[in-house]
Amino acid sequence: MHCGQLPLTLLVLMFISTSETCTLRPHITAVEGEPFYLKYCLSSSEHENEPTTIKWYKSNESHGLVELSSSSSPRITLHDYVLEFWPVELDDSGYYFFQMGNDTHEWRLNVIRRNKHSCFAEKQVISITVEVKRALQIPCGEHSYYKKLVNRTLLYKNCEKIEKNKNPSFRKNAELNDRGYYTCIFFLYHNGKLFNVTNTFNITIVGGYSNIIPVLLGPKLNHIGVELGKDVQLNCSALLNEKDLIYWNIQKENGENPNVHEEKEIRIKTSEGKWHASKTLRIENINEINLNFLYNCTVASEGDIDTKSFILLKKAELDDIPDHVFTRGIIIAILISGAVVCLMIVVVTYRVDLALFCRHFMRRDETLTDGKTYDAFVSYLKECHPENGEEHAFAVEILPRVLEKHFGYKLCIYERDVVPGRAVVDEIHSLIEQSRRLIIVLSKSYMSNEVRYELESGLHEALVERKIKIILIEFTPISDLTFLPQSLKLLKSHRVLKWKADKSLSYNSRFWKNLVYLMPAKTAKPWRDESEVLPMLSQS
Ligand SMILES: *[C@@H]1O[C@H](CO)[C@@H](O)[C@H](O)[C@H]1NC(C)=O
Ligand SMILES: *[C@@H]1O[C@H](CO)[C@@H](O)[C@H](O)[C@H]1NC(C)=O
Ligand SMILES: *[C@@H]1O[C@H](CO)[C@@H](O)[C@H](O)[C@H]1NC(C)=O
Ligand SMILES: *[C@@H]1O[C@H](CO)[C@@H](O)[C@H](O)[C@H]1NC(C)=O
Ligand SMILES: *[C@@H]1O[C@H](CO)[C@@H](O)[C@H](O)[C@H]1NC(C)=O
Ligand SMILES: *[C@@H]1O[C@H](CO)[C@@H](O)[C@H](O)[C@H]1NC(C)=O
Ligand SMILES: *[C@@H]1O[C@H](CO)[C@@H](O)[C@H](O)[C@H]1NC(C)=O
Repeated sequence: MHCGQLPLTLLVLMFISTSETCTLRPHITAVEGEPFYLKYCLSSSEHENEPTTIKWYKSNESHGLVELSSSSSPRITLHDYVLEFWPVELDDSGYYFFQMGNDTHEWRLNVIRRNKHSCFAEKQVISITVEVKRALQIPCGEHSYYKKLVNRTLLYKNCEKIEKNKNPSFRKNAELNDRGYYTCIFFLYHNGKLFNVTNTFNITIVGGYSNIIPVLLGPKLNHIGVELGKDVQLNCSALLNEKDLIYWNIQKENGENPNVHEEKEIRIKTSEGKWHASKTLRIENINEINLNFLYNCTVASEGDIDTKSFILLKKAELDDIPDHVFTRGIIIAILISGAVVCLMIVVVTYRVDLALFCRHFMRRDETLTDGKTYDAFVSYLKECHPENGEEHAFAVEILPRVLEKHFGYKLCIYERDVVPGRAVVDEIHSLIEQSRRLIIVLSKSYMSNEVRYELESGLHEALVERKIKIILIEFTPISDLTFLPQSLKLLKSHRVLKWKADKSLSYNSRFWKNLVYLMPAKTAKPWRDESEVLPMLSQS
């Protein structure tokens, strides 16, 4: 078998090559402007070495038979068996005769106009049919006749250049979308002039003849969640052969359930020459009968069958709830976090009021067990000059009036409470020790030698012994605090209160609330007006 095939193949190849080089066809079409040739095909009985005379003739209607020679036209060349045109033109159309001895051969040449809108002439195309997946080759590699003259070759598909590195010969496994017109343009030089010759192939790709086993795409069993009263489309698609069938097995059901409809089949040819088919089953207004029923789709070829099933299930309410709960949960979470943020803002804004309310409500009292006498020692500028009169008055009048009479605290004010005659330094120290807070009324002129000791003593108590807390009242705005001891600057900012004469006078003002908040918790009732002198008495 193999040995027999080989000579046959060779024979075919030889035939093809000779038939391409010499001109067998009696009717020939050529395109104006292209190089063209006629070559007589020597039969096996004729031998080139026989001395014979060769003549070429042309005949047309007006001139009759005319012998051709190289001088009859600058575009014509004669080489024994070959007549060449450089190039062929429209008026070269006619009958051509070759005579050698007693033998003659005749061709009819039809020169057609160049198509200005296309890179090839439709009458010139060579049709080739290739089966899908078989080798598709466009023979552009070499021109069978002009071989050595060809300088460059370009390949076009449907007149668009196919970019190929160097070798324009085209070879691949055929696919359906390879169909089209392939034009090889050979550029060649003759007598210093550039010519081009085109060969165009009309390539048709046909589907493979071998059948595939048809397959349905997707899983074999499909659960589709549906809602009663709604519509659903069940999609069934398959890869199959041209003659295979795809259908829904609903014959029995159709009578009972007129809401089930089989849609028209849609087929698309694949690049492999097979078909992609799909058929939809439309179920309208789903009712209970449609549920839990197997809708089967089948694809069938001569020998094979494939089925897939769809089953409609009611979208369980249980399935629904998580969604519901989820959304609701998110909303609740957002509301709660919103509420928490609001609450925090309220707490931060009114923390002082809240703390005071709590103190009052819980009847908390820090002063009962520590054995201290005073709630606060007031440190202030002692010298009473006209320029700091307000400050002095604040310390010795306003502060006691509010804190003592209204809020029931007991203050220690140097001018009022220090018993004259004792050593001032010792006295101050023990008074500060006896106090729960050290209120410093701060102004520009506060730092004087006289208060330095109070301050140092208080700071020692506050920072080292941690027995007293300092409350700083900025009586006049102070921008530069460098005169204060470094340690005082460590005070937390909420322990620094700013006195604003215009806003702070009312007992309900933020200043007094903040001050009371910084003062120890105490349940003592405000002193009555008549007990105004009590501290003086008790102290003495
Ligand atoms: C006939 O042939 C002659 C010589 O080749 C040429 O000049 C003439 O144009 C031709 N006429 C037609 C109609 O082809
Ligand atoms: C050609 O014709 C001549 C006479 O016209 C004849 O003598 C000769 O044998 C012929 N040649 C062939 C090859 O037929
Ligand atoms: C090319 O081939 C296709 C398919 O065989 C055919 O329909 C078409 O007419 C051909 N075109 C030409 C110009 O021969
Ligand atoms: C062939 O083309 C190349 C460039 O592609 C050029 O250099 C060369 O001269 C051409 N050959 C002839 C014979 O003109
Ligand atoms: C081929 O030659 C013809 C005539 O000489 C010319 O009109 C055409 O543009 C050439 N084609 C290309 C692709 O160069
Ligand atoms: C079926 O296909 C249609 C359109 O392609 C789509 O709208 C529908 O949701 C599909 N149905 C199913 C069950 O996949
Ligand atoms: C659908 O197919 C299943 C198995 O694949 C079969 O049991 C059932 O009877 C079929 N239903 C119909 C209506 O053909």
